[in-house]
Amino acid sequence: TYLGLDIGTSGVKALLIDGQGAVIGDATTTLNVSRPKSGWSEQNPADWWQAVTDAIDLLKGKHPNEVAAIKGIGLSGQMHGATLLDGNDAIIRPAILWNDVRSDAECRELEAALPTSREISGNIAMPGFTAPKILWVKKHEPENFSRIAKVLLPKDYVRLLLTGRYVSEMSDAAGTLWLDVAKRDWSEALLGATGLDKSHMPGLVEGSEVSGTLKKELCQRWGIEGQPVVAGGGGDNAASACGIGAINPGEGFVSLGTSGVVFVSNEKFSPNTGGAVHAFCHAVPDTWHQMGVFLSATDSLNWLAKLLGAEAAALTSQVAEGFSGPGEEIFLPYLSGERTPHNNAKARGSFTGLSHLSDAKTMTQAVMEGVAFAVRDSQRVLADAGTDIKTLLAVGGGSRSELWLEMIATNLGMEIAIPQDGDFGGAFGAARLGLIAATGAEPASVCTMPKIKKTISPRADLKSAYDEQYERFRALYGAIEEARN
Ligand code: XUL
Repeated sequence: TYLGLDIGTSGVKALLIDGQGAVIGDATTTLNVSRPKSGWSEQNPADWWQAVTDAIDLLKGKHPNEVAAIKGIGLSGQMHGATLLDGNDAIIRPAILWNDVRSDAECRELEAALPTSREISGNIAMPGFTAPKILWVKKHEPENFSRIAKVLLPKDYVRLLLTGRYVSEMSDAAGTLWLDVAKRDWSEALLGATGLDKSHMPGLVEGSEVSGTLKKELCQRWGIEGQPVVAGGGGDNAASACGIGAINPGEGFVSLGTSGVVFVSNEKFSPNTGGAVHAFCHAVPDTWHQMGVFLSATDSLNWLAKLLGAEAAALTSQVAEGFSGPGEEIFLPYLSGERTPHNNAKARGSFTGLSHLSDAKTMTQAVMEGVAFAVRDSQRVLADAGTDIKTLLAVGGGSRSELWLEMIATNLGMEIAIPQDGDFGGAFGAARLGLIAATGAEPASVCTMPKIKKTISPRADLKSAYDEQYERFRALYGAIEEARN
């Protein structure tokens, strides 16, 4: 059997698959985020380890024989988080997470200090990424900075405790802004711009390669008979792509979770920093991927639901009744600032077009449409980078609303496939990578697409109404930001 571990922001999932790749079972544990100041988001790395060991304990309770037979482990995790270790592997300060935006000024400083930063990394310095976070620590917590011996990403810190080795893999490393993404190697120039060098970085493997073996004492703890290999794994998005079978050029997924992601595989490195596209390595060799990441997807809907004292699912089904396309209200979903396409941590959300007739239903519809327009923005900037999305599967909590997917399909002008029930998060993809590393199987033979339950088609009758509303949505961003600043 093969184990996938996903170290997410709100919890850890441990998922077990058999040699054919079928899911045997899973276990989850929860994590909390601490927000000590506005725009800050931190977690204690010790909590990740606790949540990981608890999840495997739980899994072992449910499936002792299958856990005993684990031959390979894969890791997936929330990307970008800065985990700072001193020379004794002690944690220096709480990890600064992907959704922490404190390092906005440092992003500009980093790019000013190294004008080739975008060329080498393929990405804009955004506060979500790791490097600017370290520049912030250097400036605001110089004592902590001077103690840094290693900087690890969340799942790679867990790997250190599982295997005793400092290793990262290409897909997550690409999100640090220290990787030369075309060369798949650390860049001394990028590291130097934040006062670090290669000695502060872990070694690099491909996501489907072996990064180490599980420590003997941990094998004993969980009653594992052999000594499983631990695969490189992937950042949660690349790992999810392995789970959903998006590893060939043009294959992609749209994820409607807390944040939203439009992910597509590329055969070569394809940056578009002008459109704030994320251009990263994939978790399988010789493959890259692009992403549009928008920060408030289901988060926007949950924000409105909380405000209205209603359940999000009840609100979306209300919208489905007698739905006839866009109305007057327009919502800009920038509650946490925005990455793609604006790269503006200070952007904020807005409602426009309110009237006496605006109510919970029309405002919920506007929120769903605002998120659909954000997906369309991502498709537009990926297309500007020359990318043609050929297939798109929907994942994440928001994809349970078929109306929401229909709005998105209509806006993108393409079909969206809903996979048959299953788990397509990072843990499943990570388990597949564990299987590949342990058996030497071809990634393409393991990372296949799931069976499709239903395909959602664009609504031809609503296309022109949405084309017009999208143009209004785009114009509003510039006008509102100009007025706010
Ligand atoms: C990707 C990103 C998020 C996190 C969520 O750039 O920041 O998708 O990986 O865990």
